[in-house]
Amino acid sequence: MQAKQPIGVFDSGYGGLTILKDIKKLLPQYDYIYLGDNARAPYGTRSFETVYEYTLQAVKWFFEQGCPLVVLACNTASAKALRTIQQNDLPKIDNKKRVLGIVRPTSEVIGNFSTNKKIGVLATSGTVKSESYKIEINKFFPDVEVVQKACPIWVPLVEYGEYATEGADFFVKKYLDELLQTEPDIDTILLACTHYPLLLKWIEKNISSGIKVISQGGIVAESLKDYLYRHPEMESKISKNGTLDFYTTDEEEGFTKQANIFYGKPFKAKQVHLSEP
Ligand code: DGL
Repeated sequence: MQAKQPIGVFDSGYGGLTILKDIKKLLPQYDYIYLGDNARAPYGTRSFETVYEYTLQAVKWFFEQGCPLVVLACNTASAKALRTIQQNDLPKIDNKKRVLGIVRPTSEVIGNFSTNKKIGVLATSGTVKSESYKIEINKFFPDVEVVQKACPIWVPLVEYGEYATEGADFFVKKYLDELLQTEPDIDTILLACTHYPLLLKWIEKNISSGIKVISQGGIVAESLKDYLYRHPEMESKISKNGTLDFYTTDEEEGFTKQANIFYGKPFKAKQVHLSEP
């Protein structure tokens, strides 16, 4: 067994598991550790400063576990914290480590799905306020109109296990109707929050079949594969025993039970405490 230098995958809670699942499927050879900051989720309604602080604590924790590379599998953390961490913190902590986000890889391809050039972006209030998707998508697709809609109730519905209920249907319909009233010609909806794929059943029920609904897992996995291909110096550092370890900042039992639903396989999680930077 190679000494472990895993890829770290981070989210505010369970949502990042929907990304990890696709990464692991495409790149099964690597070691991974997943951390959900469940004790402090949701991040979507928190300030820039708080999301940055929490995310930086998590990144430092991953580095202590020996990760050369960390993926922020959380749109809110990618939108609000990634740039500062990359530009200000990484040079001070360790110049050879890398932290990647999921806003940019998604923005690079999402325009290809739309014929009408009108894309609806559903995300947390934090991601919407940051305008990251508007800015990034328009860099790659200047002729695409991006219509954003914050769906603040969706993450709590998912985190508290209510995503399969009729109550979820009501709140899914409410935000979708509001989005499509703003721009009825939207033909592509991006689920720009890693929790939202759990609501897919209700989302598809409440829109016409002509609208494509895009989740990020496959996109992020392909982009990570490409990144590792283009950065052999990083690829060679990552250990390849095919292991997967799960950590949460909340109590273990609850995470293990819930996360099984997100990840699709049973596993045991361990609790960790993130310290102040
Ligand atoms: N899953 C996260 C995202 O992709 C946010 C959830 C939260 O609000 O904590 O934005």
